[in-house]
Order: sequence, then C-alpha cells, then structure tokens
Amino acid sequence: MSQGPGLRLEIDGAVANVTLARPERRNAMTPAVWHGLADIGSNLPPEVRIVVLRGEGPSFCAGIDLNLLAGASDEAVASPADPGFDQQVAGYQAGYLWLRDPSIVSIAAVQGHAIGAGFQLALACDLRILAEDAKLCMKEPALGLVPDLTGTKPLVDLVGLARAIELCLTARTVTAAEALLLRLAELVVPAAELNGAIDDLVSALLSVDPAAARATKALLQQAPANTLADQAAAERRSQAELLRSKLANRPALRR
Ligand code: ACO
Repeated sequence: MSQGPGLRLEIDGAVANVTLARPERRNAMTPAVWHGLADIGSNLPPEVRIVVLRGEGPSFCAGIDLNLLAGASDEAVASPADPGFDQQVAGYQAGYLWLRDPSIVSIAAVQGHAIGAGFQLALACDLRILAEDAKLCMKEPALGLVPDLTGTKPLVDLVGLARAIELCLTARTVTAAEALLLRLAELVVPAAELNGAIDDLVSALLSVDPAAARATKALLQQAPANTLADQAAAERRSQAELLRSKLANRPALRR
C-alpha cells in the first residue's frame, strides 16, 4: 500500500513493514515522507506489535532531500522566517516519535548509508540491525544545521555524551563494525542475511505475551530517569496492573 511519495506500508497481521521507496534518490526524505510516517503511526491497527523500517535499494536513507535546502524542490521545507516554524518541525518529528510507543517494537533494517535524517530515523527505532555495508553519519553540523529529527537523545543515550559530541561535530562516518562496538547496532549481518535476521528477531519478539511485552517496554523506558526505589515501585504497579487485567479477562488465573 502506498503512503504517498517515497513511502510504502504493508501490514501482515502483527507486523507492519514500512519501506522508504525512492531508491533512485537513495530514499532522500521530504516533508511529505515525514508526514507520511506520522500518518502511519497515527493509523496503526491495534493488532500491530512490530514495525520494521527498511530502505529500498543500496542505501537505507541519504537524509533530507538536498534539493529542499537548495530551494530546487516542488516541496518547501520549514523556514525560520515562518512564524509556524516550530509547529512545522514538530510535525516532521511526529514522523519519528511514534516509533517509541510502548505498544510496538520498532526495528530499523539498515543497509548502505544512513545519513542525517536517515540516521535519525534508525535512531528513532527501538532496535537496529545492520548489514555489514552500513554506514552511519550525522551530517547536519557539516551542513550548518543541528540534528532536529529527534536523534540527539537516543544517540546520547546509546553512545554517551562524549562520543555523541565527537560523532556529530566531526560528521564522520561510522561503519557497521564500529556501530556494533558503540551499541548503535544490536546485530551486524552480511547484507544477504539482513531480511533473515529481521525475520528471526520478529518471530522471537512475537513469541512473548503481548500485554507483558507492552508493559515491560514501558517500564524499561522509564528506568534511566528513575531512582532504583522509584523503578522498583513502578515494577510493582505495572505487575499489579498487568495481572489485574489478566484476571479480569481470565478469572481462573491466580498468583
Ligand atoms: N538529496 C537529493 N538527492 C540525493 C540525495 C539527497 N540527500 N542523496 C542522493 N541523491 C541522488 C543523487 O543526486 C543521485 O542523483 P542522480 O542519479 O540524478 O545523479 C542519486 O540520488 C544517486 O546518488 P549517488 O550519489 O550517485 O549514489 P551513491 O550510492 O554513489 O551515494 C550517498 C549515496 C553516499 C548517499 C550519496 O548520494 C550522498 O552523499 N548523498 C547526500 C547525503 C547528504 O548529505 N544528506 C543530507 C544529510 S543532512 C540531513 O539529512 C538533515
């Protein structure tokens, strides 16, 4: 199913496959793509538990369509001269933020380049599986921009502040092998095995109880900001809520 220019959505039961589909432009992104991603997030059927993001062709995503920055595109990108700038960029960010919703697990399947807005899309996902030829680059500062598509927080959370500063302020490229060391990838596989590795991961993720998966992801997401005592209390509350809802549905269950 097409989701507008450069984007395809296929839903197969509990799995939504989202594909950046403009390979002739290395899946360069425009506001229409960001809005299309946000629409997918807002309209995801409740039975979807896994979202897999892929890029068609040799690159996962070459970042923002540079024609937008050059003023050579049919589409316009938010301008700071516009009083609605903040709201417009928030609309672009909405295309990324839904990927952290506790009701799903999002996986980026990355081959080739993931640059700028494309690297941030991979960072927006819960998990990243990389092909051996993957190359990640936060290019924005080299172009006189800051990364503003929600990537700075997950980057710092994953690699730490010092490494995030080094990566962004040099705009250097990280290979798949280094990405694994920096915890930017859960797994690196030969390119020909990328789809198989994703299938295996999806099967494993679907094998656990859906309600427990949702509640556990929500708990894990709170953990970094909580004290140990607060997190322990959150675990108790979450367990009680989960078991209560199971008891309501299955009166025979006792603990
Ligand atoms: N915007 C618009 N067009 C692009 C982009 C882009 N970001 N990236 C690639 N293309 C186009 C190329 O211009 C080329 O078009 P052509 O066939 O008409 O010449 C086509 O896609 C294929 O690109 P190649 O460069 O030939 O492909 P290759 O596989 O050799 O290189 C790579 C891929 C490394 C991604 C390279 O295209 C590149 O460096 N692109 C620019 C990356 C970039 O700076 N993005 C902005 C990051 S900042 C941000 O996202 C906010």
